[in-house]
Amino acid sequence: MRSAELTSRFLFVVSLVRPAELADAAPIARVHVVTWRSAYRGLLDDDYLASLDQAGYAERWRRILADSSSRVYVAESSQGVIGFASGGRERAGEDGFSGELYAIYVLKEAQGHGHGRRLVQAVVGGLRELELPDMIVWVLRENRPARRFYERLGGVYVREQPITIGSAQLQEVSYGWKRLADVRY
Ligand SMILES: CC(C)(COP(=O)(O)OP(=O)(O)OC[C@H]1O[C@@H](n2cnc3c(N)ncnc32)[C@H](O)[C@@H]1OP(=O)(O)O)[C@@H](O)C(=O)NCCC(=O)NCCS
Repeated sequence: MRSAELTSRFLFVVSLVRPAELADAAPIARVHVVTWRSAYRGLLDDDYLASLDQAGYAERWRRILADSSSRVYVAESSQGVIGFASGGRERAGEDGFSGELYAIYVLKEAQGHGHGRRLVQAVVGGLRELELPDMIVWVLRENRPARRFYERLGGVYVREQPITIGSAQLQEVSYGWKRLADVRY
């Protein structure tokens, strides 16, 4: 491997995970859109993925960050924000769960270096602060890599339901941890 390539890989390996601030809204939106495009290629329409609006997401993230009801964390390397995760109170009234991992995205070039695990650890800390004792997460059924990630962290399959994204009718599945102490890092 050439040294420039080695250096650029290294730039994504070391990261700090910290609570997100309002100023992180735009970088979070960038990671959000770029990672949707790479992770959901083939699962969602190319046109739909191309239409994702980074500025619109930045505005949404600004609103989320301004409201203290959820917890958002970023993984930051010398390249800036390379991943983020958010969580809070469970949103849909799922039986047996009061905490939820809402979203977790790590740039493709930074995946597989432990950033996802550290982001989950941060969200679990946030759920503890909110006195939520458990955690559920929803993931597209066909998103096999993310499902393996949750299974690796000890998530137990809960159930499946339909979801509409853009014009696509898909299935999503949930994984749960009945106690936060059950998350295996
Ligand atoms: C899923 C995601 C958040 C995981 O983050 P990551 O930084 O790549 O994962 P980590 O490096 O922290 O991996 C933690 C553990 O999970 C395992 N893991 C991660 N991805 C895996 C995969 N695809 N298959 C099997 N195991 C996997 C790792 O091997 C590691 O376990 P180990 O230490 O025993 O090797 C990240 O890959 C991502 O953003 N994917 C695209 C977006 C996405 O699908 N988000 C989830 C939407 S619900």
